[in-house]
Amino acid sequence: MPASIVLGAQWGDEGKGKLVDRLAGEVSWVVRFQGGNNAGHTVVLGDRVIKLHLLPSGITRKECNLVLGDGMVIDPWVLRQELDNWLQQTGEDPSQSRLFISERAHIILPYHRMLDSLDEKIGTTGRGIGPTYADKINRIGLRFGDLSEVIGDVDWAETVAQRMNSDLSAAGAEGRIEAAQLAQEVAWIHDTFGQTVANTGVMLDNALKLGENVLLEGAQGCLLDIDQGTYPFVTSSVTSRGNATHGAGIHPGHIEQVIGIVKAYTTRVGAGPMPSELFDSDGDHMTDVGHEFGTTTGRRRRCGWLDLVVLRHANRVNGFTSMAMTKLDVLGGIDPLKICVGYRLDGKEIHEMPASSAALARCEPILIEMPGFPPEPLEVWLDLAKKADEEGLGYSALPSAAQAYIRHVENLLGVPITSVGIGPDRDATIERAD
Ligand code: GDP
Ligand code: IMO
Ligand code: MG
Repeated sequence: MPASIVLGAQWGDEGKGKLVDRLAGEVSWVVRFQGGNNAGHTVVLGDRVIKLHLLPSGITRKECNLVLGDGMVIDPWVLRQELDNWLQQTGEDPSQSRLFISERAHIILPYHRMLDSLDEKIGTTGRGIGPTYADKINRIGLRFGDLSEVIGDVDWAETVAQRMNSDLSAAGAEGRIEAAQLAQEVAWIHDTFGQTVANTGVMLDNALKLGENVLLEGAQGCLLDIDQGTYPFVTSSVTSRGNATHGAGIHPGHIEQVIGIVKAYTTRVGAGPMPSELFDSDGDHMTDVGHEFGTTTGRRRRCGWLDLVVLRHANRVNGFTSMAMTKLDVLGGIDPLKICVGYRLDGKEIHEMPASSAALARCEPILIEMPGFPPEPLEVWLDLAKKADEEGLGYSALPSAAQAYIRHVENLLGVPITSVGIGPDRDATIERAD
């Protein structure tokens, strides 16, 4: 397994953190390649719940090196806080040993957060992601590798603060940026992370040449991709396979596996169309039993049936070599289960996603029904997963209706589902046996 990619196949929060933590036991490097602290990835180890926004989910494996790659946008204050939390919990500061920040990664500054906080249309996470990527594309962004060039340069701080203030004023923001403070902040970022900044693309390329395994950890999901998602209700980066190696600074030829993470139903946080969304007791069941509240902002996630049109789109763009289904346990107690297999748009049946969000908002889901299976407490699901693992039972340990649901999704998509999550814990996963 030279390099593998884990990607969200829906609108984010599919359970990427849990799978990356599991797979990280077999790799030497885990790399984030896009996005920033709009991500919220959860790893559950017994009683310990670890929520990560910037640090790769391989952090739980001491021998794993961690990279914040070229394509990321990084808020240095959030990173310091996350590292301090980790230090407090474990006594380890990875930035002194096994964490590397790409010199090409862009820096989120207070100005970016101020602009993002004005958003009223998309329902962004407000973390400054879009404005930082906008500066990158406008070729006026600040990168970690360029910090030393601007430190102590009073003219630079004056010019940048002036530009930022004119943008803030035009956007109707109240706050302003002081040149002296900006200069101090830049110096602090350099002091704090200067030693952690590296040419991470070369490091990864060397590691791959030595035969080490690298895991690329996606953030967000395919439907939030700036090009392939439900534009404009998307994030500001390319979340898909095509950008995974590029955002890590290595070439696509290294990739052996692309694992799509699919929640057994659909969720979405923020604004934008979602044809299979539910507004009834089945949707409430998914929110309540699945604890569907955002890891980053705490917002209630919108819930709906599994949407095969979405997954076909994600598979076409990403070419998944396999899929991991998560949160199947949450569907226990809903009977019948439904799956969206197409849409009805303006009286016509369609099976591909329209590019227009206005058209997607008019789409009615075409649903098929399948028998449900009973609910169980999380401890029961966890025991079931452990038993399946010990006895090599695979999916045969699951209720027959749950097995049928998995088989049906596999058949409809033509991609094997190689693991199924039945609880948040690292061990609450059943690997395919055959
Ligand atoms: P990510 O952003 O894709 O890493 O996903 P999040 O961490 O934001 O959201 C997934 C949530 O579901 C987290 O609270 C996980 O602990 C939880 N989770 C992951 N897999 C499963 C599963 O198979 N069953 C249940 N019940 N919860 C899961
Ligand atoms: P993970 O990695 C779910 C959504 C926001 C908003 C849109 C744009 O945990 O799956 P942004 O702040 O990126 O400009 O917001 O994207 N969004 C996510 N939704 N999971 C995420 O990350 C998300 N990151 C951004 O809610 O709709
Ligand atoms: Mg998340």
